[in-house]
Amino acid sequence: MFHLAYFMQGSSAQAWHSPWAGSIGKEWSKPDFHIDCARALERAKFDYVLYEDLYYVPDYWKGTTDIYVEQAISVPRLDTMVLTPVVAHATSHIGVVPTLPTFAFEPYLLARQVATLDLLSQGRGAWNVVTGTSDGAIRGFGKDQLLEPEERYKQAGEFVDVVKQLWNSWEPDAIVDDVENGVFADPSKVHVVDFEGEYYKSKGALVSGPTPQGTPVIAQAGASAGGLELAAKHADTIVGVAATVEGMKTYRDTVRSLMEKHGRNPDDCKILFLINPVVAATKAEVEAKLAEITEHAHANIERELADHAKRMGVDISGLPLDEPLTQELLDGLHTRGHISHLEKFVARANGRTLRQVAFDFWRFPIPPEVVGTFDEVADRLEEIVNEVGGDGFLISPHGVGTTRRYIMEITEGLVPVLQRRGLTRTEYSSTQLRENLLAF
Ligand SMILES: Cc1cc2nc3c(=O)[nH]c(=O)nc-3n(C[C@H](O)[C@H](O)[C@H](O)COP(=O)(O)O)c2cc1C
Repeated sequence: MFHLAYFMQGSSAQAWHSPWAGSIGKEWSKPDFHIDCARALERAKFDYVLYEDLYYVPDYWKGTTDIYVEQAISVPRLDTMVLTPVVAHATSHIGVVPTLPTFAFEPYLLARQVATLDLLSQGRGAWNVVTGTSDGAIRGFGKDQLLEPEERYKQAGEFVDVVKQLWNSWEPDAIVDDVENGVFADPSKVHVVDFEGEYYKSKGALVSGPTPQGTPVIAQAGASAGGLELAAKHADTIVGVAATVEGMKTYRDTVRSLMEKHGRNPDDCKILFLINPVVAATKAEVEAKLAEITEHAHANIERELADHAKRMGVDISGLPLDEPLTQELLDGLHTRGHISHLEKFVARANGRTLRQVAFDFWRFPIPPEVVGTFDEVADRLEEIVNEVGGDGFLISPHGVGTTRRYIMEITEGLVPVLQRRGLTRTEYSSTQLRENLLAF
């Protein structure tokens, strides 16, 4: 059996131009869309929904925010720390994972908010630890540049240490609710944190009380040495991005041996690989979809490139669209943000035109290609898990963003096939996220 999770990418408005967007362009700020999606994913017994977040309006295309605003590329967005309790309230078993960047919070505030999410959701709270992927992200916070990646992760490591100490400041059985003896909570079970590190200081116990999971689930998506180290030390679930089955194996082996180095059991962290399935009931429908994707890609090259520019934190609008990209041109691209995405881009771009690269990314944004009928895709996923020995997949929509239709294709089309083959669960074994992650 393997685990499934869903990646709510960008804002719900992002799919506004899809033929299946419904009224999302007008109703993007209503919770209904997110609740409908989470309920469908819960019906299909997904472990969790990971909500991506962004803290700025990108300006990585021609130096302005125009295309991002005009085309709803990751804009506008609901704050995931406000959205996740709304979704949790409308569901009962699925985990809700907000993305909260270390640069935007103080450890105490973050510890308190995620603890409250865990309490309100009765044990389904989590934190996707990110450190920022572009300088734009911290300008709104009065700073010019992100720290260099290594230092960013060093700082984030300290941040997570403080947060965990705060979560653990209440012992699990501190609340006794003993009306007869007039004791609500046992003071000997509430401990004062006294943390003083290189970057953060925190004194006192967390005001939230003990949370259902003790330590809410930590999710991470590290790719750099610092990111992987943080993930191996703290994460309960990691999102891996790999272009090949071989790459997945290497990634998984690396994380597992780092976990051992930190004295952890590697089976305590579920590594889910990001995939973007294109699925349908019949081969003819799959072909029609691929044709639609191709047509869309040709018509929206600039939109696609602007999205990549944002992800990499590099303005690539000055590169020629239809001339082969030379090593010299590519050497000029630098980022303090998402280095692995830039490396992937450069590897694909060398000797090819920008238009070709954009088209490729759109057609198959994250290899390995997972395309076919429900049965074919189930075969492919089974094959990958068997070869990699992996824990499962984080599903993200192809191209235009999540629509209710895409969610249905996955939850009502693909998942029943996986369930019939005994590959994914048909019932939750717990109402808490970590227990579900550790169930197999
Ligand atoms: C599926 C997935 C979701 C991510 N979501 C976010 C996000 O919402 N916000 C963010 O700042 N970074 C996000 N990231 C970026 C990661 O936190 C991380 O920076 C990236 O994978 C590169 O790893 P590195 O920081 O170790 O270089 C995401 C990455 C992946 C693969």
